Amino acid sequence: MNHFLEIDDLTPTELRSVLALAQRAELPPVLAGRGAALVFEKPSARTRNATEMAVVQLGGHPITIRNDEIGLDVRESVEDVTRTLGCFHAVLAARVFSHRTLERMTTVSNVPVVNLLSDVAHPMQALADLLTIQQEFGDLQGRSLAWIGDTNNVCRSLTIGASMLGMHVRVAPPPQYEFTDEELDRLALAGATPQTYARPEDAVAGADVVSTDTWVSMGQENEAGERHSDFEGYSVDDRLMGTAAPHAIFLHCLPAHRGEEVTDAVLDGAQSRVWRQAENRMHTARALLWFLLATSEQKEAVR
Ligand code: CP
Repeated sequence: MNHFLEIDDLTPTELRSVLALAQRAELPPVLAGRGAALVFEKPSARTRNATEMAVVQLGGHPITIRNDEIGLDVRESVEDVTRTLGCFHAVLAARVFSHRTLERMTTVSNVPVVNLLSDVAHPMQALADLLTIQQEFGDLQGRSLAWIGDTNNVCRSLTIGASMLGMHVRVAPPPQYEFTDEELDRLALAGATPQTYARPEDAVAGADVVSTDTWVSMGQENEAGERHSDFEGYSVDDRLMGTAAPHAIFLHCLPAHRGEEVTDAVLDGAQSRVWRQAENRMHTARALLWFLLATSEQKEAVR
């Protein structure tokens, strides 16, 4: 069974194939007459809409299920929900608080399990980010990506994916938000060795891509006061973008908190690619689902 919990569940060659498939306006309808279960323990705008539309474009029928309907481990165990959804659907995708929930799903699932965001990883976002960078620069070998702020789930998946395609990743988090040794070991397993910088200016200097994310992710609301104080000085503004390469682009997975991690001028400015990046969530979701579900004969036929 092919599951997709982190971006290096694909090999670098497979990652390149998925990104190439995402550039195709149409793919054979591998989900014709079949369902896709999309489970959400947390809110979503982009992920839900992008994945639902990707399923439709592959001929399938998406059913979005909020946790208050199925009660993971409350109404029924994660394993029994997974077995149940596998009776009706060709794929099970889920946004969860705990990555362990996805891992438990994979132990009993008879269909591919796809991570739509967990506390550990956001690989579907990383696919869209990499496609957006590739559309701008072509081959990513030797290009540099500067990440400003929390080394969170989005940062980890993007760091792995960018490294798989030969990019140099630099991160500039506040000291207490750096990668842990355990996270660095996990990244190294995937061939990712990000450089950590104390000052955002040093990470961004000459970079091709500058990216950031919210200072307070879903589930961290009780840390908001402390985080706002810790992240002061880590906003991406015109002054910081001015130290990147002249051709640099700005990315943000969204939702953005204007005036906090990014200014209006950068988010709405000429270097911003955030709306293309958002649209790419759908194109990469279509490609990833197709890659997981297509037979080897179907893959051979679209080469
Ligand atoms: N970037 C992202 O995952 O957006 P949503 O939380 O709106 O799905």
